[in-house]
Amino acid sequence: MMRIITSLFILLVFASGHTEPRHAAGIASAHPVATAAGFEILEAGGNAFDAAVAVSATLAVVEPYSSGLGGGGFWLLQQADKDEAVMIDGRETAPLQAHEKMYQDEKGNVIPGLSMDGALAAGIPGEPAALAHIAKKYGRLPLSASLAPAIRAAREGFRVTPHYQRMARFRLQALRASKAASAVFLYRDEVPHEDYIIKQPDLARTLEAMAAHGAAGFYQGEVGKKLIAATGKAGGIWTAEDLQSYAIKERKPVTGSWYDYRITSAAPPSSGGIAIIEMLNMLENDGLRSLTGVARKHLLIEAMRRAYRDRAEYLGDPDFVDVPLERLTGKGYARSLRETIAPSRATPSRELKPAAPIPEGRHTTHFSILDDEGNRVAATLSINYPFGSGFMVEGAGILLNDEMDDFSAKPGTPNAYGLVGAQANAIAPGKRMLSSMSPTFVEGPDRLVILGTPGGSRIITMVLQGILAATDGQSASRIVTQPRFHHQYLPDVVQFETQAFTVGEVLGLQRMGHKLKQLRERYGNMQVVILDKARHSVSAASDPRGEGLAQVKKISRKADSP
Ligand code: DON
Repeated sequence: MMRIITSLFILLVFASGHTEPRHAAGIASAHPVATAAGFEILEAGGNAFDAAVAVSATLAVVEPYSSGLGGGGFWLLQQADKDEAVMIDGRETAPLQAHEKMYQDEKGNVIPGLSMDGALAAGIPGEPAALAHIAKKYGRLPLSASLAPAIRAAREGFRVTPHYQRMARFRLQALRASKAASAVFLYRDEVPHEDYIIKQPDLARTLEAMAAHGAAGFYQGEVGKKLIAATGKAGGIWTAEDLQSYAIKERKPVTGSWYDYRITSAAPPSSGGIAIIEMLNMLENDGLRSLTGVARKHLLIEAMRRAYRDRAEYLGDPDFVDVPLERLTGKGYARSLRETIAPSRATPSRELKPAAPIPEGRHTTHFSILDDEGNRVAATLSINYPFGSGFMVEGAGILLNDEMDDFSAKPGTPNAYGLVGAQANAIAPGKRMLSSMSPTFVEGPDRLVILGTPGGSRIITMVLQGILAATDGQSASRIVTQPRFHHQYLPDVVQFETQAFTVGEVLGLQRMGHKLKQLRERYGNMQVVILDKARHSVSAASDPRGEGLAQVKKISRKADSP
């Protein structure tokens, strides 16, 4: 059973004495300590981008099973005075010695576990470079200030919760296999008891090296040396050149429209933005707002099926493969796909031109920030599976990701999970693995909604349903709480949370030929912040499925903005 610790929804309206209309600031993240870190930095004179650095770094400490300095992510940023957003692509890259068949045996079979557990599963981390870049180019405070709350949390420790215990139990073998990881995240090689305090002095020192030297404090110097030595000893293939040549990319987000709203979401190497726009475009003329029940759900499922088919065939790192972005997000293409949807019959996925989906992990994190000036951030960060590869670099406190598993280990044939991937997402040195992470802004005349969630391949359909609720005027808490359903082309099944369909809808969808699978667990951990433009009021909500905290506060700045 998911234990709901916090779900908070606050609505505050502030009369403003300023000539510029100002409003409260809102932060929603997956952990209360990270949300508090963000507000601490806003109150110290930082903007939303400094707060994003603080929240990311603190999540790396207190939510070690979700994201970290040993991983990567996408940060969608928009400055208050700009019309356009930018995406900071801090996705991991394949090491330079990686190759297409690195997870296959001599017979060409995929070796189970190799792309998931241990040092060989790890891509070159992007989060340290992303945080240094965001602080320098967009923030107002030095990295030493915005990393301070994370350094404190690493040194003082955080409390083990039931969710932590679940994640640690799930990855027990991988954590036990790494002496350093076991020493930090387990107690005598077992899952620690609730309220046990996890301290990470080595990670605190690594964060301090970054505070003093920026990204070089991670990729070079003592920490860099430890990363190379430890991965080398554990069967990894990282070199100093890998670390020194890692570079974030600033990318133009993918944009589209839905009714009066502009949708801004993640660009490749995420598949999220393209798939979301493709689905919205397909349903543009269906009057979805006034459709209910089976008719509405059938159309959504069929749009999901088609967008995920395209994801499997075409999407990969745009620096390595030609992603037909214009075509896939074009209205004409969407119309041609819409014509293939029958009004009252499920299209079996095998009737579509074959392609296949990519395996996804089970944990990751998202946060949304709006500061009192209107600067905004949506960020989804990952180390892939819970606790990533389980491998910790001794003496540096860095838990490495297993994001290499987001590549297709063997294009065209089933991988360890019975799924197949496409050539566009095959492994190549320096290439970024395809992602589903979809940090998103939804902006219309009446409101701005900042949202996103973890959840592997289900991220995209969760964000789609979030956008539909957001553009229907739903409240922040309703957007994060609404029951979810998902189809990803293959397997040809609609997964749904218990409340997502009524009994009548289940029967109706089955009659159309949809195969339904009711999930025992709920999924996702959505974080939403909303600005009501007319009232200058801010609201926020954290998914009741997780342990996060959403807060809205009027900022009283200790120092006037530098
Ligand atoms: O980048 C991706 O799409 C995956 N590594 C995300 C994994 C994830 O969301 C796990 N979720 N709970």
